[in-house]
Amino acid sequence: MNKSPIILGIETSCDETAVSIIQDNESGIPKILSNIVSSQFDIHKEFGGVVPELAARSHVEKINLIAKKALDESGITLDKVSAIAATSGPGLIICLSVGLNFAKSLSSSLKVPFIGVNHLEGHALSPKLHTNISYPYLLLLISGGHSQFLSVNGLGSYTRLGTTIDDALGEAFDKTAKLLGIEFPGGPKLEKFAEKGDPNKFKLPKPIINKGGCNLSFAGLKTAILRLTKTIKTDQEKYDLAASFQKTIEEILYIKSKTAFDEFSKTNSIKDKTFVVAGGVAANKGIRKKLIEVSDENNFLSIFPDIKLCGDNAAMIALVGLEKYKIKKFDNIDLSASPRLALDKNAKFLKGSGLIY
Ligand code: KG4
Ligand code: ZN
Repeated sequence: MNKSPIILGIETSCDETAVSIIQDNESGIPKILSNIVSSQFDIHKEFGGVVPELAARSHVEKINLIAKKALDESGITLDKVSAIAATSGPGLIICLSVGLNFAKSLSSSLKVPFIGVNHLEGHALSPKLHTNISYPYLLLLISGGHSQFLSVNGLGSYTRLGTTIDDALGEAFDKTAKLLGIEFPGGPKLEKFAEKGDPNKFKLPKPIINKGGCNLSFAGLKTAILRLTKTIKTDQEKYDLAASFQKTIEEILYIKSKTAFDEFSKTNSIKDKTFVVAGGVAANKGIRKKLIEVSDENNFLSIFPDIKLCGDNAAMIALVGLEKYKIKKFDNIDLSASPRLALDKNAKFLKGSGLIY
């Protein structure tokens, strides 16, 4: 086995076509040789959300080019690649299949191992691309499709402590943004709107804030925003509503993180406790600030991925590929796409407030 393995990672689970090449390093932090992400915002914005058929077609059209770009930028040739890793789920099945099939063909022709990667594990491990973190650690994963607190016990070993019982946080940001007339995906722009508004102007609900442990709920917020958008008239009122939304989310995450700290501490008696916040929404500066505050107050070391590694990318997929490569955890070429892949396979399905009492 190569002493400093090189992994080519592929990500096509939703609306980003991404290829990255990373190399193992003695420091424990792999070197990112290239990390190309091609977003499809322009294709989907007129529909207000991702259209699976169009997304898959775009992946097919671009994957060769993006892979070539990643290779050129890395300065290495394909014969130096030790293994090919690709997202196998969760995500849109026709999108996942594009990356998986490309990865399988490449691994067969190069005669190197093929490794299927859980996209959520990519987010979970993403700060390891620049920081040494030891297991176990507490993770808050906040993305467009998921919002969960998990104990990350080791590679492939997760215990879910809490999850959203309705919308994911990224989804709540995108839906609120849409109601404020911001085009898809509105999360990042909503944050900009919020900077110009008064966070105390509107009082918004904090669903299940005092019950349900560290489970989360955001659907009630969206309903309140929908009602309020019917009454507001000026741009300033829009900024105020965005700021009030942003502040409410920060407060919800502050309180729920505290509960998650307690739950994590019950089963993990380690001295140095780490709190990793990952996924697209972890790019939000206000949320970062508030979660650093709650971590400091509760003796958790907070770690966030670099901003450019919060959103979907293939470096995080290559990283999981590298960790699996080191323990020779390879997959067969018949591995199929799993649209509903979870991190904690034993966690029960939890949707609807009736389930958390
Ligand atoms: O992790 P990600 O790139 O894709 C999924 O795996 O879902 O997350 C995308 C989500 C979108 O909902 C997007 O609006 C949200 O992350 N997002 C943000 C910010 N940047 C991205 N939400 C709030 N503030 C941001 N700065
Ligand atoms: Zn993601």
